[in-house]
Amino acid sequence: MSDYNNKQREPQIRHEDFVKISRFVESTYGLKLPDYKKYLIQSRLLRRLNALGIATYSEYVKYLFDPKHTDEIQKMIDVVTTHKTDFYRESDHFEYLENVLLPDHVKKHDDISIWSAGCSTGEEVYTLAFVISEFNRKKNHKLDYQIFGSDVSVSSIQEAAAAVYQMNKTVGVPIDILKRYFLKNKNKDKKFVKIVPEIRKKTKFFKLNFLDKVYNVNKKFDIIMCRNTLIYFSRETQREVLSKLIDHLNPNGYLIIGHSESIFSMDLPVKLVKTTIFKKI
Ligand SMILES: C[S@@+](CC[C@H](N)C(=O)[O-])C[C@H]1O[C@@H](n2cnc3c(N)ncnc32)[C@H](O)[C@@H]1O
Repeated sequence: MSDYNNKQREPQIRHEDFVKISRFVESTYGLKLPDYKKYLIQSRLLRRLNALGIATYSEYVKYLFDPKHTDEIQKMIDVVTTHKTDFYRESDHFEYLENVLLPDHVKKHDDISIWSAGCSTGEEVYTLAFVISEFNRKKNHKLDYQIFGSDVSVSSIQEAAAAVYQMNKTVGVPIDILKRYFLKNKNKDKKFVKIVPEIRKKTKFFKLNFLDKVYNVNKKFDIIMCRNTLIYFSRETQREVLSKLIDHLNPNGYLIIGHSESIFSMDLPVKLVKTTIFKKI
């Protein structure tokens, strides 16, 4: 079969090349790429073919697995992974943080540390920071905080650390939060905003692959959010990842997963406190 679709004049991925990539992605990153995702992956990888001036997916696969080009693996995973995220996504988690977890936490502690694992381009991390900062402001508390974000995608981590967002990404951010925590670009034609330094300095981003045997994180957290990432993994991989994340929780710390995710029958050392919110036991 030809690598080209004559009608569109765009290269088409051959099944055997798709299989080579999907097997590698699952064994190295845990992401399942079933056959129905073939055309999605093809269109995402097209960017890499164009950037490298490579004409076919077969040539790309050779390039990707050539030991001379190990840096291409990172670029491949940056485009293959799904980075959809939003400020205040699944907002009931942030309401629970504001109304239950933080009021409870300040009774015994003067600081809190949170890990957003699989943070994509940082919106989840900054939303957490806004919620804590607003809690301090409104309730006159001085809770110190540090929010860590990790992702396997280096390009996402770089975007997160840059903290610059297109204006249309802030739909759903309450107007007072927008005014207080975002800086407008001086050039009015450019529709970008940047998170204020007071919030940025409370955040740290780092690369972490959930499939790493040991997580190189010398810290324990009060809350770990791992949302909308596990859905791409097999059930067994989900359990292994969650087990390692829970090891990084302080006693009585909280694990928060995405609305479409479940840990049912995984036998993990946590108890349910509210749908998708768990406490370490
Ligand atoms: C859909 S985003 C979720 C972002 C955010 N947590 C949210 O709920 O809006 C999933 C993120 O998981 C990351 N991811 C996928 N596989 C990963 C792995 N093996 N290790 C770490 N992060 C991974 C992707 O790069 C992507 O940024």
